[in-house]
Amino acid sequence: MRALILAGGAGTRLRPITHTRAKQLVPVANKPILFYGLEAMAEAGIKEVGMIVGDTAVEVQAAVGDGSKWGLDVTYIPQAAPLGLAHCVLIARDFLGEDDFVMYLGDNLIRQGVKDFVDRFEVERRQFDPAAAHILLARVPDPHRFGVAELDDNGEVVQLVEKPADPKSNLALVGVYLFSRAIHAAVAAISPSDRGELEITDAIQWLVDHDQRVRSEILQGWWIDTGKLTPLLEANRLILETLERRIDGTIDAESRVEGRVVIEAGAVIEHSHIRGPAIIGAGTRIVHSFVGPFTAIDENCQILFSEVEHSVILARTRVDHAGRLEDSLLGRDVEVTRSTVLPRATRLMVGDDCQIDLT
Ligand code: DAU
Repeated sequence: MRALILAGGAGTRLRPITHTRAKQLVPVANKPILFYGLEAMAEAGIKEVGMIVGDTAVEVQAAVGDGSKWGLDVTYIPQAAPLGLAHCVLIARDFLGEDDFVMYLGDNLIRQGVKDFVDRFEVERRQFDPAAAHILLARVPDPHRFGVAELDDNGEVVQLVEKPADPKSNLALVGVYLFSRAIHAAVAAISPSDRGELEITDAIQWLVDHDQRVRSEILQGWWIDTGKLTPLLEANRLILETLERRIDGTIDAESRVEGRVVIEAGAVIEHSHIRGPAIIGAGTRIVHSFVGPFTAIDENCQILFSEVEHSVILARTRVDHAGRLEDSLLGRDVEVTRSTVLPRATRLMVGDDCQIDLT
């Protein structure tokens, strides 16, 4: 079994954060989203990973390298433009060969990983008349934002529609798919959708229309498509809740650190109060500040005379006399300052390299 991880595409929905950077590398609890996917592949016993990369290829390759950190062998497959999920399968044809494979969307985060799902497919593939594909579904309140499945009484797929205006069910396609080599004929046969993409939903529908069985499974644990701000903060919250307390940095006698908190080596906490779950990255300084629950502050940041809660702050950002920040996502190398302190909290979504004066 091989893996195809999709880390190309354009991150329009997390702009300005991903205007120049890969959305798959935005950190959740100070770890790039894509790394959770790579860990899931390794845990499932997969060794060979093909990774689709686009405009942000250099950044993705610098972060992932040859994959040996996870015991994986990563082959990069460049995609000239984001022409769709099925297009990714098309251009990975040589890498995939005749093997079964798991396709994984690099901006998805799945609590329980993919091991059980992969194992079940492998067992089933050895049986008589196996399904050609196996999809993972989750019940969602807003199915029109996803690929939506209609099932028969046996849980087999009858119809799949990509982002339907009038969804026939609340079962969304999660970004993990298991395919046999039958998918190659399907991706070669379909035409681009109205939005100009070769849709994987159409390719799976093509299998159904050509009398191939597509089985489904409904996900029990949580799953998040992190491509938007609210799900990203939600993913951050869920992962932080699983952290074990670990203090490797320095905390002065005037500071208080409560609950599930990770303070990395080289971080310094002075005259401050940290209330977990929270993570403070290496080299970060928190001075005369309050860091509240569900906050991830990455490496080499400075939080000075400010309050931050339920937020994600990327590396080298400085928040100085900024009052109270909540539900915010700040990019790398951002400066947020305010000379007069207002009573109300501020919510920000700021891209890299910005200076903001909140006065
Ligand atoms: O998250 C689940 C949803 O993912 C499914 O319910 C939908 O059926 C499926 O089409 C997909 O929808 P999205 O609109 O969320 O897909 P997105 O464009 O965000 O792309 C998903 C990942 O694949 C992302 O990491 C970028 C990458 N990608 C995307 C395209 C279109 C590529 O590498 N190349 C591409 O051409």
